[in-house]
Amino acid sequence: MLPGVKLVVCGAGGMLGQDMVRAARFMNHEVTALDREALDISNERAVRRAIERERPAAVVNCAAYTAVDAAEDDSDAAMRLNADAAGTVASAAAAVGACVVYPSTDYVFDGTGERPYVESDEPSPKTVYGQTKLAGEVDTAAANPRHFLVRTSWLFGTGGRNFVETMLEIGERDKQVLVVRDQVGCPTWTGHLAAGIVRLLDTDAYGLHHMSAQGECSWYDFAMAIFEQAGVECSVLSTTTAEFARPAPRPAYSVLGTQWQDAIHLPEWQVGLRGYLEDRAS
Ligand SMILES: NC(=O)c1ccc[n+]([C@@H]2O[C@H](COP(=O)([O-])OP(=O)(O)OC[C@H]3O[C@@H](n4cnc5c(N)ncnc54)[C@H](OP(=O)(O)O)[C@@H]3O)[C@@H](O)[C@H]2O)c1
Repeated sequence: MLPGVKLVVCGAGGMLGQDMVRAARFMNHEVTALDREALDISNERAVRRAIERERPAAVVNCAAYTAVDAAEDDSDAAMRLNADAAGTVASAAAAVGACVVYPSTDYVFDGTGERPYVESDEPSPKTVYGQTKLAGEVDTAAANPRHFLVRTSWLFGTGGRNFVETMLEIGERDKQVLVVRDQVGCPTWTGHLAAGIVRLLDTDAYGLHHMSAQGECSWYDFAMAIFEQAGVECSVLSTTTAEFARPAPRPAYSVLGTQWQDAIHLPEWQVGLRGYLEDRAS
């Protein structure tokens, strides 16, 4: 997109939403940032009115039901937001000729793979959250042919509860933490992802994209890197998924790769971690 193009960001108060607004403004785009208070995406009339009023070139839908464990007992609410409302946002964008970005998740896969999942791999979500996000991909694509479905993973960023914050809080308080070592994925800083999405919007490569940080690690490795980079003394003890049961089963392996020839590659996760730690300190 040429600088100065108009963008609407829904869910602008969340981790990705905040960085989307920043990244797009940095590239001199004109951004209307709509947090939950400004626009509840489950209110269809309000969504259509807001997008009709703004008439953007692109709508980035960062609003979502992201409480993975809570969704197991709250599937209707998760489906309404992640799928039904996402379809409304995509359709309202289509009505004014705008493309739409729908961020999705590695949780659409069951995690039994042994090599990075690519776009043509069959999804098979094992959680309600993953099922609702997959349904959101389908509804978004059906409502707007000019869609970018961007699957990403293990996000951390300003303005939300995330693993880095949890580790730093426990580490500073207890000086010891227990972390699972048998789940492997790609921790991705929302600052890098948002910049990648802004670049993607410059293309007409509509469709499904996997976009995570380069490299892979376990939550245990990630915790070690967090304490090392933050300069916090904390001993990290490893545990297993079986010993650390949660309501929603986590995929054991959910590294994302891409089949796009000219894919936008994000920096390595360690670089993202450094960027986030610097960002939160500034
Ligand atoms: N977090 C991850 O690890 C991860 C991994 C892969 C993909 N994703 C996807 O990435 C996207 C962004 O997630 P995130 O990590 O930035 O999540 P987040 O920090 O939880 O942000 C989601 C935002 O949506 C808002 N929201 C909730 N209900 C809304 C509604 N009815 N109308 C408007 N806004 C509403 C939330 O507001 P309140 O805070 O006020 O509820 C919050 O600001 C989501 O699509 C998510 O599925 C996330």
